[in-house]
Amino acid sequence: MTLASEQGGRAGEELVRSLLGTGALTPEWADTFRAVPRAWFLPGLVWAHDMATGRSVPVSRADDPDAWERAAYANVPLVTQWDDGRHTGTEPGAVPTSSASMPSVVAAMLRDLEVSDGMRVLEIGTGTGWNAALLARRLGGSDVVSVEIDPVVVAQARAALTSVRPSPRVIHGDGRDGWADAAPYDRVIATAGVRVLPPRWLEQTRPGGIILAPWGTHYSDQDALVRLTVGDDGRAVGPFLRMVEFMKLRDQRLDWDRFRTYVPEHPDFPGDADASRTPLALADLGRRYDSVRFVIGLRVPDCAHVVNQTGEEAGKAWFFDLGSRSWAAVAFRERGSDAATVHQSGPRRLWDEVEAAVTWWIDRGRPGVDRFGLTVGPDGSARPWYEEPSDTP
Ligand SMILES: C[S@@+](CC[C@H](N)C(=O)[O-])C[C@H]1O[C@@H](n2cnc3c(N)ncnc32)[C@H](O)[C@@H]1O
Repeated sequence: MTLASEQGGRAGEELVRSLLGTGALTPEWADTFRAVPRAWFLPGLVWAHDMATGRSVPVSRADDPDAWERAAYANVPLVTQWDDGRHTGTEPGAVPTSSASMPSVVAAMLRDLEVSDGMRVLEIGTGTGWNAALLARRLGGSDVVSVEIDPVVVAQARAALTSVRPSPRVIHGDGRDGWADAAPYDRVIATAGVRVLPPRWLEQTRPGGIILAPWGTHYSDQDALVRLTVGDDGRAVGPFLRMVEFMKLRDQRLDWDRFRTYVPEHPDFPGDADASRTPLALADLGRRYDSVRFVIGLRVPDCAHVVNQTGEEAGKAWFFDLGSRSWAAVAFRERGSDAATVHQSGPRRLWDEVEAAVTWWIDRGRPGVDRFGLTVGPDGSARPWYEEPSDTP
């Protein structure tokens, strides 16, 4: 055993213990985690990704094997591909497009998938192959199918999986189509975020089966994990469990360039915009992973937003309608200054809608995302709800 792999064994055991301690990893999954170490699935160059700051640090096995082993067993997501493979070099690229997800997120999703012997599982987004290998180890290889869109990622995952028994079946394809050949599935688990749930996933899940997916709106990059149970009528209904953030399905990423053609870049927001004021502060819009952000997205559909924070409480927030050319921009100042200035343009008064959504959320005692849920029709149409499936948020 080399020094690095001895260290890896210890680090792997420490990771298992700490995940057991937080409850993300359940005792039923612990031996599977021990038997299928994350390091087996990682390429020689990974980028340790800090979710809070968005910074990514390259770690190379050739240059620093000990640092690479530490990263392999740290509870952080490791980016393994940038820019759909167009990126080269060690500096991070623009958009992370494949990764080994954060171990605590992997463990908690497997816990929430509630698998048992004999179940057939479809995974969307093979990535490194680690999650699929964990499932195959638990359920048996012939019962786990994983679909990955990127051919290079597929080849790397298949290579990593050659030494794993039992091994899942890895399909190169668009995960939106699921994989009809092995349907119906008892469980579908998406490890890429969705904005529209592909109807094929519902079709290919047996009644009573579960779909676990990071779902969100285009309001932000954040997703909430939804656990849907498929009914006899082909609809799927279920609660949101908690906030997560995943790379999105390739064709469901937001194209920010579409707004540049009509939103003025001038700092005073000129053009035909109406000016008004708002009593809300920048903090009222929430930060990363705050439920209010997610709830605004539910109550203000088809709206994207971005915040350019320039001080503790100062910054500009922009809101864009995905269906018309309506936009709004709000300039927040530091505490003690005048109320924030709002500019709105187009048929939709986006800021008015956002303000009403924040007020709605505060009036209900600031509920967490686990008080909301989703009903998805057989055509993929989604209706979010609050407390009860019949309630519209
Ligand atoms: C967060 S990674 C998955 C992590 C993986 N489960 C693991 O254990 O390493 C997301 C993956 O989804 C893939 N992906 C994106 N869009 C896809 C699509 N339409 N169909 C299938 N895979 C897709 C990406 O290429 C990427 O590899």
